[in-house]
Amino acid sequence: MRYNFDEIIDRQNTNGIKWETLQDIFGATDLLPMWVADMDFRGPEPVMEALKQRAEIGTFGYTQRPDSLYEAIAGWVERKHHWKINKEWICWSPGVLPALIVCIQNFTKPGDRIIIQPPVYPPFFKIVKDNDRELVTNPLRYVNNRYEIDFEDLADKFRTTGAKMLILCSPHNPVGRVWTREELSRIEAICEEFDALIISDEIHADLAYSPFQHIPMASLSTRAADRTIVCFAPSKTFNLAGLQSSYIMIPNKELRNAFNKTMARGHLAMSNSFAITASESAYKDGGEWLEQCLAYIRANIDYAAEFFALHIPEIKMINPEGTYLLWLDCSRLGLDTAGLRRFMVKEAKLALNEGISFGTEGEGFMRMNAACRRATIEEALQRLLKAIEARR
Ligand SMILES: Cc1ncc(COP(=O)(O)O)c(C=O)c1O
Repeated sequence: MRYNFDEIIDRQNTNGIKWETLQDIFGATDLLPMWVADMDFRGPEPVMEALKQRAEIGTFGYTQRPDSLYEAIAGWVERKHHWKINKEWICWSPGVLPALIVCIQNFTKPGDRIIIQPPVYPPFFKIVKDNDRELVTNPLRYVNNRYEIDFEDLADKFRTTGAKMLILCSPHNPVGRVWTREELSRIEAICEEFDALIISDEIHADLAYSPFQHIPMASLSTRAADRTIVCFAPSKTFNLAGLQSSYIMIPNKELRNAFNKTMARGHLAMSNSFAITASESAYKDGGEWLEQCLAYIRANIDYAAEFFALHIPEIKMINPEGTYLLWLDCSRLGLDTAGLRRFMVKEAKLALNEGISFGTEGEGFMRMNAACRRATIEEALQRLLKAIEARR
């Protein structure tokens, strides 16, 4: 079927964080909400149908995960990412963040060092610090409007700090890189040299734009699989974040048993009836929706790229290879952090994520969510242009 991503959806009474916390977070309600990383779209029709049918039954007792769910996931991962997984590798978590926290708690000790690659998803900083581990940064290099990994620095950080864990963001939020096989292989080789564990957050895996192809870290080789925990979820892919479900693939039996034991101890691996129904249906029948959705978002991104280039050269948009996030280099506006925040909220009337929250490397940047109606992107860019023209 043909999906209509231009449909206006009434978000009243959905308790959506993106819409309903504007006053608390930004101090204003007249803003276009383009911050939290979920989509403005209705999800795939087969998923909505399956959820309705499930709701019709009217019983929501404790629920087990059926074999058909494991098969749907394994089928998806093989079709989409060319990775043949064993059913027993799949572990469960209410979200990717809880899984990352369980990995930190299980596989490192208080005081241990953990490497992350900023600018990066803000909770990476918090979960390391909140669990009394020490943060070590291997900042990405920003070269010619594109981000790269600094491999020499990565090896150096392992060597000098004794870190035993890397939290990888692949594809990378917010810079939109889809790491290549060569890049992933170099990361793996370095982690092998220093005997470090790779926790690979691949929540944006399904959102790569052709010709870029996401490669699961653990699919590189059996050696990579042995030291990697791969975190996937249907939440970003099919806009199901509110259902709170993710699956974690751990080929290494020892690591898997330790992970599952902690999940069981915390009673964290139970599931939600709707999440089971939605995930299975999405992985079996959501492919057509996703294809159209990615084409629609890609067109939004291309539109924005052209608009910035033609009308707002003061802001450089980093063209994403994956994710629906636009990383905007606003440094030429010459504003400090508070000034840039004020400009976006008070003058442009936009609710965006502040670059500084992704680490000091994000200073002078803003993150804009492009998973919205074309009309929303157009309106946002017009607001931005007007605010900038008033300052020119
Ligand atoms: C890289 C990354 N990891 C994890 C999450 C959150 O995952 P979850 O909601 O499954 O905890 C996000 C959400 O934006 C993300 O971008």
